[in-house]
Amino acid sequence: MFFVSNILLSVADDFRFNHGPYLQNLGSNEVTLFFTTSARAFSWVEVKGDGWEKPKCFYTVNDGLVQAYNTQNAIRVTGLEPGCEYSYRLVAKEMKQFHPYKIVYGDSIASRWESFTTVPEKMDSSSFVIINDGHDDAQKVARLLGRSQLKKADAVIYLGDMTSYIDNADVPYKGFIDVSVDMFARNKPFIAVRGNHETRGNMGRDYGNYVARPGGRFYNIYYYGETALIVLDTGEDKPDTHPVYGGINRFDEYRREQARWLEEEVKSKRFRKTRNRIVLMHIPPIIPGEDNSPEGHAVKELSKLFIPIFNKAKIDLVLSGHTHRQYVLLSKLSGNIFDIVINDNKSVVDLKSGKDGIRVKITNENGLTNDIIL
Ligand SMILES: [Fe+2]
Repeated sequence: MFFVSNILLSVADDFRFNHGPYLQNLGSNEVTLFFTTSARAFSWVEVKGDGWEKPKCFYTVNDGLVQAYNTQNAIRVTGLEPGCEYSYRLVAKEMKQFHPYKIVYGDSIASRWESFTTVPEKMDSSSFVIINDGHDDAQKVARLLGRSQLKKADAVIYLGDMTSYIDNADVPYKGFIDVSVDMFARNKPFIAVRGNHETRGNMGRDYGNYVARPGGRFYNIYYYGETALIVLDTGEDKPDTHPVYGGINRFDEYRREQARWLEEEVKSKRFRKTRNRIVLMHIPPIIPGEDNSPEGHAVKELSKLFIPIFNKAKIDLVLSGHTHRQYVLLSKLSGNIFDIVINDNKSVVDLKSGKDGIRVKITNENGLTNDIIL
Protein backbone atom coordinates (compact mmCIF):
# COMPACT_ATOMS: atom_id res chain seq x y z
CA MET A 1 0.00 0.00 0.00
CA PHE A 2 2.86 2.32 0.68
CA PHE A 3 3.82 2.68 -2.98
CA VAL A 4 0.35 2.92 -4.57
CA SER A 5 -0.05 6.64 -4.25
CA ASN A 6 1.00 9.61 -2.19
CA ILE A 7 -2.44 9.79 -0.68
CA LEU A 8 -2.27 6.23 0.65
CA LEU A 9 1.24 6.84 1.81
CA SER A 10 0.09 9.75 3.89
CA VAL A 11 -2.88 7.76 5.27
CA ALA A 12 -0.57 4.89 6.21
CA ASP A 13 1.85 7.40 7.66
CA ASP A 14 -0.85 8.93 9.79
CA PHE A 15 -1.86 5.74 11.51
CA ARG A 16 0.94 4.93 13.91
CA PHE A 17 1.89 4.04 17.46
CA ASN A 18 2.27 7.47 19.01
CA HIS A 19 3.26 6.64 22.59
CA GLY A 20 5.10 3.61 23.91
CA PRO A 21 5.47 0.74 24.12
CA TYR A 22 6.48 0.86 27.76
CA LEU A 23 6.74 -1.99 30.25
CA GLN A 24 4.69 -1.95 33.42
CA ASN A 25 4.30 -4.48 36.21
CA LEU A 26 7.15 -6.68 34.99
CA GLY A 27 7.26 -9.66 37.32
CA SER A 28 8.50 -13.24 37.17
CA ASN A 29 5.51 -14.46 35.14
CA GLU A 30 3.94 -11.43 33.50
CA VAL A 31 4.29 -7.97 32.07
CA THR A 32 1.83 -5.34 30.86
CA LEU A 33 2.56 -3.35 27.70
CA PHE A 34 1.22 0.18 27.48
CA PHE A 35 0.97 2.05 24.17
CA THR A 36 -1.34 4.26 22.15
CA THR A 37 -2.36 4.37 18.51
CA SER A 38 -3.01 7.60 16.64
CA ALA A 39 -6.51 6.47 15.62
CA ARG A 40 -9.07 4.02 16.95
CA ALA A 41 -7.85 0.49 16.36
CA PHE A 42 -7.86 -3.17 17.25
CA SER A 43 -4.44 -3.74 18.85
CA TRP A 44 -2.58 -6.69 20.27
CA VAL A 45 0.88 -7.82 21.33
CA GLU A 46 2.89 -10.67 19.81
CA VAL A 47 5.43 -12.37 22.07
CA LYS A 48 8.23 -14.79 21.22
CA GLY A 49 10.05 -16.92 23.80
CA ASP A 50 12.96 -19.31 23.58
CA GLY A 51 11.87 -22.60 22.05
CA TRP A 52 8.42 -21.34 21.07
CA GLU A 53 7.35 -22.54 17.63
CA LYS A 54 5.62 -19.27 16.80
CA PRO A 55 4.74 -16.00 18.52
CA LYS A 56 1.77 -15.94 20.88
CA CYS A 57 -0.81 -13.16 20.57
CA PHE A 58 -2.12 -11.38 23.65
CA TYR A 59 -5.25 -9.21 23.78
CA THR A 60 -7.31 -7.49 26.43
CA VAL A 61 -10.58 -9.38 26.73
CA ASN A 62 -13.40 -8.17 28.95
CA ASP A 63 -16.63 -10.12 29.36
CA GLY A 64 -16.10 -11.99 26.09
CA LEU A 65 -15.26 -8.90 24.06
CA VAL A 66 -11.76 -8.25 22.78
CA GLN A 67 -10.95 -4.63 23.48
CA ALA A 68 -11.03 -2.65 20.25
CA TYR A 69 -12.03 0.73 18.80
CA ASN A 70 -9.76 2.34 21.37
CA THR A 71 -6.45 4.21 21.28
CA GLN A 72 -4.96 3.73 24.75
CA ASN A 73 -3.83 0.17 25.48
CA ALA A 74 -2.54 -1.78 28.46
CA ILE A 75 -2.16 -5.39 27.30
CA ARG A 76 -1.23 -7.97 29.89
CA VAL A 77 1.11 -10.78 28.86
CA THR A 78 0.94 -13.79 31.20
CA GLY A 79 2.28 -17.33 31.52
CA LEU A 80 5.95 -16.31 31.31
CA GLU A 81 8.87 -18.04 33.02
CA PRO A 82 11.06 -16.27 35.62
CA GLY A 83 14.41 -14.86 34.52
CA CYS A 84 13.80 -15.46 30.78
CA GLU A 85 14.25 -13.14 27.86
CA TYR A 86 11.29 -12.54 25.54
CA SER A 87 10.78 -10.53 22.35
CA TYR A 88 7.60 -8.65 21.61
CA ARG A 89 6.05 -6.35 19.08
CA LEU A 90 2.83 -4.39 18.84
CA VAL A 91 0.33 -4.91 16.06
CA ALA A 92 -2.68 -2.69 15.31
CA LYS A 93 -5.41 -2.59 12.68
CA GLU A 94 -7.03 0.78 12.26
CA MET A 95 -10.81 0.65 12.59
CA LYS A 96 -12.18 3.04 9.99
CA GLN A 97 -15.82 2.26 10.68
CA PHE A 98 -17.55 0.36 13.43
CA HIS A 99 -21.19 -0.19 12.50
CA PRO A 100 -23.38 -2.60 14.46
CA TYR A 101 -23.16 -5.23 11.72
CA LYS A 102 -20.08 -4.22 9.75
CA ILE A 103 -16.55 -3.32 10.75
CA VAL A 104 -14.28 -1.66 8.20
CA TYR A 105 -10.58 -1.99 8.94
CA GLY A 106 -7.96 0.36 7.54
CA ASP A 107 -4.21 -0.15 7.59
CA SER A 108 -2.34 -2.61 9.76
CA ILE A 109 0.89 -1.60 11.43
CA ALA A 110 3.49 -3.44 13.51
CA SER A 111 6.22 -2.03 15.74
CA ARG A 112 9.75 -3.34 15.65
CA TRP A 113 10.62 -6.27 17.89
CA GLU A 114 11.79 -5.32 21.39
CA SER A 115 12.91 -7.47 24.29
CA PHE A 116 12.63 -7.74 28.06
CA THR A 117 13.70 -10.19 30.74
CA THR A 118 11.30 -11.34 33.46
CA VAL A 119 12.32 -10.98 37.11
CA PRO A 120 14.33 -14.03 38.25
CA GLU A 121 13.06 -15.92 41.31
CA LYS A 122 16.46 -15.72 43.00
CA MET A 123 18.49 -12.52 42.92
CA ASP A 124 21.58 -11.82 44.99
CA SER A 125 21.06 -8.11 44.54
CA SER A 126 18.76 -5.68 42.81
CA SER A 127 19.16 -2.06 41.85
CA PHE A 128 16.84 0.79 41.06
CA VAL A 129 17.03 4.33 39.74
CA ILE A 130 14.73 6.78 41.51
CA ILE A 131 13.57 10.19 40.36
CA ASN A 132 10.84 12.33 41.89
CA ASP A 133 9.24 15.75 41.59
CA GLY A 134 10.03 16.13 37.90
CA HIS A 135 6.95 18.39 37.55
CA ASP A 136 6.62 17.99 33.74
CA ASP A 137 10.30 18.68 33.03
CA ALA A 138 11.14 15.78 30.69
CA GLN A 139 14.53 17.29 29.88
CA LYS A 140 15.48 17.21 33.54
CA VAL A 141 14.32 13.59 33.73
CA ALA A 142 16.59 12.79 30.77
CA ARG A 143 19.55 14.56 32.38
CA LEU A 144 19.06 12.74 35.68
CA LEU A 145 18.62 9.36 33.99
CA GLY A 146 21.85 10.15 32.14
CA ARG A 147 23.61 10.65 35.50
CA SER A 148 22.28 7.36 36.90
CA GLN A 149 23.27 3.70 36.71
CA LEU A 150 20.31 3.14 34.38
CA LYS A 151 21.91 0.30 32.40
CA LYS A 152 22.46 -1.81 35.53
CA ALA A 153 19.05 -1.07 37.10
CA ASP A 154 16.25 -3.61 37.31
CA ALA A 155 13.65 -0.86 37.21
CA VAL A 156 13.20 2.88 37.39
CA ILE A 157 11.02 4.24 40.14
CA TYR A 158 9.20 7.53 39.65
CA LEU A 159 8.52 8.59 43.19
CA GLY A 160 5.67 10.99 42.54
CA ASP A 161 4.93 14.47 41.23
CA MET A 162 6.33 13.73 37.80
CA THR A 163 3.52 15.99 36.59
CA SER A 164 2.10 19.12 38.23
CA TYR A 165 -1.53 18.40 37.33
CA ILE A 166 -3.28 16.44 34.61
CA ASP A 167 -5.66 18.53 32.55
CA ASN A 168 -5.13 17.01 29.13
CA ALA A 169 -4.32 13.56 27.80
CA ASP A 170 -0.75 14.42 26.79
CA VAL A 171 0.51 15.58 30.19
CA PRO A 172 1.90 12.26 31.51
CA TYR A 173 3.41 11.42 28.10
CA LYS A 174 5.14 14.77 27.70
CA GLY A 175 6.17 15.00 31.34
CA PHE A 176 7.96 11.69 31.80
CA ILE A 177 6.59 8.74 29.80
CA ASP A 178 7.83 9.59 26.28
CA VAL A 179 11.35 10.30 27.56
CA SER A 180 11.26 6.98 29.42
CA VAL A 181 10.26 5.16 26.23
CA ASP A 182 13.17 6.82 24.42
CA MET A 183 15.69 5.94 27.12
CA PHE A 184 14.68 2.57 28.63
CA ALA A 185 10.99 1.74 29.05
CA ARG A 186 10.63 -0.44 25.96
CA ASN A 187 12.94 -2.95 27.65
CA LYS A 188 12.93 -2.12 31.36
CA PRO A 189 9.92 -1.16 33.49
CA PHE A 190 9.21 1.86 35.59
CA ILE A 191 7.16 1.78 38.76
CA ALA A 192 5.05 4.90 39.17
CA VAL A 193 4.42 5.90 42.78
CA ARG A 194 1.59 8.42 42.78
CA GLY A 195 2.39 11.86 44.15
CA ASN A 196 -0.09 14.43 45.37
CA HIS A 197 0.24 16.38 42.12
CA GLU A 198 -0.80 13.41 39.98
CA THR A 199 -4.17 13.51 41.75
CA ARG A 200 -4.71 17.11 40.60
CA GLY A 201 -6.49 18.44 37.54
CA ASN A 202 -9.66 17.39 35.76
CA MET A 203 -7.91 14.28 34.36
CA GLY A 204 -6.17 13.26 37.58
CA ARG A 205 -8.77 10.52 37.88
CA ASP A 206 -7.48 9.00 34.61
CA TYR A 207 -3.88 8.56 35.80
CA GLY A 208 -4.42 4.80 36.13
CA ASN A 209 -4.78 4.62 32.33
CA TYR A 210 -1.10 5.60 32.01
CA VAL A 211 0.59 3.42 34.62
CA ALA A 212 0.00 -0.07 35.95
CA ARG A 213 -2.07 -0.58 39.05
CA PRO A 214 -1.56 -4.28 39.88
CA GLY A 215 -4.65 -5.59 41.63
CA GLY A 216 -6.38 -2.32 40.71
CA ARG A 217 -4.39 -0.43 43.35
CA PHE A 218 -1.82 2.37 43.31
CA TYR A 219 -0.40 0.91 46.52
CA ASN A 220 1.34 -2.43 46.26
CA ILE A 221 4.28 -4.61 47.12
CA TYR A 222 6.89 -5.78 44.64
CA TYR A 223 9.52 -8.45 45.28
CA TYR A 224 12.94 -8.56 43.65
CA GLY A 225 14.63 -11.62 45.15
CA GLU A 226 15.48 -10.73 48.74
CA THR A 227 14.17 -7.18 48.45
CA ALA A 228 10.62 -6.03 49.10
CA LEU A 229 9.47 -2.70 47.70
CA ILE A 230 6.36 -1.43 49.43
CA VAL A 231 4.66 1.29 47.41
CA LEU A 232 2.24 3.57 49.24
CA ASP A 233 -0.03 6.20 47.75
CA THR A 234 0.20 9.09 50.16
CA GLY A 235 -2.58 11.15 48.56
CA GLU A 236 -2.94 14.90 48.86
CA ASP A 237 -0.99 17.01 51.32
CA LYS A 238 -3.79 19.25 52.63
CA PRO A 239 -6.92 18.07 54.54
CA ASP A 240 -9.73 16.67 52.39
CA THR A 241 -11.90 19.57 53.56
CA HIS A 242 -9.56 22.20 52.09
CA PRO A 243 -11.49 24.48 49.69
CA VAL A 244 -9.09 23.82 46.76
CA TYR A 245 -10.34 20.22 46.58
CA GLY A 246 -13.99 21.25 46.27
CA GLY A 247 -15.26 18.45 48.51
CA ILE A 248 -14.24 15.58 46.21
CA ASN A 249 -11.18 14.11 47.96
CA ARG A 250 -11.23 11.31 50.54
CA PHE A 251 -7.57 10.71 51.25
CA ASP A 252 -7.78 10.35 55.04
CA GLU A 253 -9.84 7.18 54.69
CA TYR A 254 -7.71 6.01 51.74
CA ARG A 255 -4.54 6.25 53.86
CA ARG A 256 -6.25 4.27 56.64
CA GLU A 257 -7.23 1.62 54.06
CA GLN A 258 -3.56 1.32 53.08
CA ALA A 259 -2.45 1.01 56.69
CA ARG A 260 -4.93 -1.87 57.18
CA TRP A 261 -3.63 -3.50 53.97
CA LEU A 262 0.01 -3.11 54.98
CA GLU A 263 -0.60 -4.53 58.45
CA GLU A 264 -1.81 -7.74 56.81
CA GLU A 265 0.76 -7.74 54.00
CA VAL A 266 3.77 -7.68 56.35
CA LYS A 267 2.46 -10.80 58.06
CA SER A 268 2.92 -12.84 54.86
CA LYS A 269 5.55 -15.57 54.73
CA ARG A 270 7.15 -14.01 51.68
CA PHE A 271 7.58 -10.65 53.39
CA ARG A 272 8.87 -12.14 56.64
CA LYS A 273 11.51 -14.07 54.67
CA THR A 274 12.68 -10.95 52.79
CA ARG A 275 16.01 -9.50 53.88
CA ASN A 276 15.78 -5.88 52.72
CA ARG A 277 12.54 -4.00 53.26
CA ILE A 278 12.08 -0.68 51.53
CA VAL A 279 9.07 1.66 51.54
CA LEU A 280 8.48 4.06 48.66
CA MET A 281 6.09 6.87 49.52
CA HIS A 282 5.95 10.29 47.90
CA ILE A 283 5.11 12.32 51.01
CA PRO A 284 7.44 11.32 53.84
CA PRO A 285 6.13 10.25 57.26
CA ILE A 286 8.51 12.71 58.94
CA ILE A 287 9.83 16.08 57.79
CA PRO A 288 12.24 17.78 60.19
CA GLY A 289 10.63 20.82 61.81
CA GLU A 290 7.06 21.27 62.98
CA ASP A 291 4.67 22.14 60.14
CA ASN A 292 1.28 23.40 61.24
CA SER A 293 0.28 24.65 57.79
CA PRO A 294 -2.51 22.82 55.89
CA GLU A 295 0.24 21.26 53.74
CA GLY A 296 1.59 19.49 56.83
CA HIS A 297 -1.63 17.49 57.28
CA ALA A 298 -0.61 14.39 55.28
CA VAL A 299 2.77 14.11 57.02
CA LYS A 300 1.04 14.03 60.42
CA GLU A 301 -1.48 11.43 59.24
CA LEU A 302 1.22 9.27 57.64
CA SER A 303 3.37 9.49 60.74
CA LYS A 304 0.51 8.39 63.00
CA LEU A 305 -0.71 5.57 60.72
CA PHE A 306 2.49 4.10 59.34
CA ILE A 307 5.44 4.63 61.67
CA PRO A 308 4.22 2.00 64.17
CA ILE A 309 3.73 -0.48 61.30
CA PHE A 310 7.16 0.29 59.82
CA ASN A 311 8.88 -0.27 63.16
CA LYS A 312 6.99 -3.50 63.84
CA ALA A 313 7.65 -4.80 60.32
CA LYS A 314 11.36 -3.96 60.62
CA ILE A 315 11.45 -1.70 57.61
CA ASP A 316 15.04 -0.80 56.69
CA LEU A 317 14.53 2.28 54.57
CA VAL A 318 11.79 4.76 53.65
CA LEU A 319 12.39 6.70 50.45
CA SER A 320 10.36 9.83 49.75
CA GLY A 321 10.29 13.07 47.79
CA HIS A 322 7.80 15.96 47.92
CA THR A 323 9.88 18.44 49.92
CA HIS A 324 12.14 19.50 46.99
CA ARG A 325 14.87 19.45 49.64
CA GLN A 326 17.17 16.63 50.57
CA TYR A 327 17.06 15.06 54.03
CA VAL A 328 18.70 11.96 55.46
CA LEU A 329 17.20 10.91 58.79
CA LEU A 330 19.13 8.01 60.21
CA SER A 331 17.33 5.62 62.54
CA LYS A 332 19.66 6.24 65.44
CA LEU A 333 18.70 9.92 65.43
CA SER A 334 14.95 9.56 64.89
CA GLY A 335 14.50 6.71 67.37
CA ASN A 336 12.86 4.56 64.73
CA ILE A 337 14.05 1.27 63.34
CA PHE A 338 14.22 2.58 59.77
CA ASP A 339 16.22 5.27 58.00
CA ILE A 340 14.52 7.90 55.84
CA VAL A 341 16.03 9.38 52.70
CA ILE A 342 14.09 12.24 51.14
CA ASN A 343 15.34 13.05 47.66
CA ASP A 344 15.12 16.60 46.33
CA ASN A 345 13.76 17.61 42.91
CA LYS A 346 17.13 17.88 41.15
CA SER A 347 18.89 14.64 42.04
CA VAL A 348 18.69 11.00 41.08
CA VAL A 349 19.00 8.12 43.54
CA ASP A 350 20.78 4.88 42.68
CA LEU A 351 19.57 2.27 45.13
CA LYS A 352 21.37 -1.04 45.46
CA SER A 353 19.96 -3.74 47.67
CA GLY A 354 21.96 -6.89 48.35
CA LYS A 355 23.30 -9.35 50.89
CA ASP A 356 25.45 -6.67 52.47
CA GLY A 357 22.55 -4.27 52.95
CA ILE A 358 21.25 -1.22 51.14
CA ARG A 359 23.35 1.41 49.47
CA VAL A 360 21.94 4.76 48.37
CA LYS A 361 23.87 7.02 46.05
CA ILE A 362 22.42 10.46 45.35
CA THR A 363 23.70 12.34 42.31
CA ASN A 364 22.61 15.83 41.40
CA GLU A 365 22.33 17.33 37.93
CA ASN A 366 25.94 18.52 38.10
CA GLY A 367 27.24 15.06 38.91
CA LEU A 368 27.95 15.70 42.61
CA THR A 369 27.37 12.55 44.63
CA ASN A 370 26.49 11.59 48.17
CA ASP A 371 27.01 7.92 49.10
CA ILE A 372 24.97 6.50 51.97
CA ILE A 373 25.53 2.95 53.20
CA LEU A 374 22.72 1.73 55.41
FE1 LIG B 1 4.54 16.43 46.29
